[in-house]
Amino acid sequence: MIKLPGLIDPHVHLREPGATHKEDYDSGTSAALAGGITIVLAMPNTKPPIFDAETLDLALNAAQQKAHCDYGQFVGAGPDNADWQNNTSTSSRSAGLKMYLDSTFGELRLDDMTLWQPHFQNWPKNFPIVAHSESRTMAAAILFAAIYDRPVHIAHISLKEEVLLIKAAKERGIKVTCEVCPHHLFMTNDPLSSPKIGGGLGGGRKEVRPRLATQSDVDALWENMDVIDCFATDHAPHTVEEKDSDNPPPGFPGLETILPLLLTAVDLRRLTLDDVIQKMYTNPKKIFNLPDQPETWVEVDENATYEIKASEQFTRCGWTPFEGWKVKGKVRKVVLRGQVAYENGKILAPAGYGRNIRA
Ligand code: DOR
Ligand code: ZN
Repeated sequence: MIKLPGLIDPHVHLREPGATHKEDYDSGTSAALAGGITIVLAMPNTKPPIFDAETLDLALNAAQQKAHCDYGQFVGAGPDNADWQNNTSTSSRSAGLKMYLDSTFGELRLDDMTLWQPHFQNWPKNFPIVAHSESRTMAAAILFAAIYDRPVHIAHISLKEEVLLIKAAKERGIKVTCEVCPHHLFMTNDPLSSPKIGGGLGGGRKEVRPRLATQSDVDALWENMDVIDCFATDHAPHTVEEKDSDNPPPGFPGLETILPLLLTAVDLRRLTLDDVIQKMYTNPKKIFNLPDQPETWVEVDENATYEIKASEQFTRCGWTPFEGWKVKGKVRKVVLRGQVAYENGKILAPAGYGRNIRA
């Protein structure tokens, strides 16, 4: 058995309010515990989106009643809600500000750079801004961080040009951090390299934003592992029926697969266990300003070998892009704030046990 700290996933979509047939705070935080994760930070592209005190209350009330692990809730940057100096009661209750600078699932999007500016200016510097920004948009987000001399965290990087630019920006002292998702580390856009996610039904299952990239992009992420601050799932559950429909929404579930995939990479000597602890505990705790979780740990059987199966997962979406993948390393037990929260396939922490990390 190995013992890990309670792991942190700074990027999940729990679909509450508005799309609880895909996931909610109950099923999503159960999936987190089963995956060895004790803090999730939830994204605001819900229905309605979370962007002010009232909508934040909707999400936090649901979380308070249903969460099995600890949580934080992001608010989204919109065209009319950048007056954050007069709204500290909202910013201080949120995990951070999420800025959607490229198109993806949901309504939150800031096209015009004049709309970015007041958010970069007004959002408190001790709370993080997370940017969904791909390729050249990412370069623009880093420029904003430099101009306003404030930290920005780039979500789910996937391209060689992105990791190289972040490396250069860090060397210049710009306050930029980044995360990478398992699907961008372990899959490419070559259908032959990831045959399982075709699903045989129009390929809707492989839709994800950012898209899966080339082998050379994937290689660059691995070669620049020291530039990557965090591993995050971007757990983005859509039901298997939705994924196999004519109009498939983008997104992969990931809470229950991130740790076994990374531990398998440790077993293959592609990563060290210390990389996993740094990028799933030490760094996200610092970047997102998260509290200690006393008496909290994860016990993993590092020798257990098994196949990933959607049928054994807690997520409500009913599928995984990693179906049938053979992995080594299984979460046996999670202790959260002194209480056994998960053991051998069972969620033991009751709904409502989870705490708001900003409370
Ligand atoms: O694939 C994605 N799905 N990328 C995103 O940025 C949003 C997410 C979702 O909410 O489904
Ligand atoms: Zn996301």
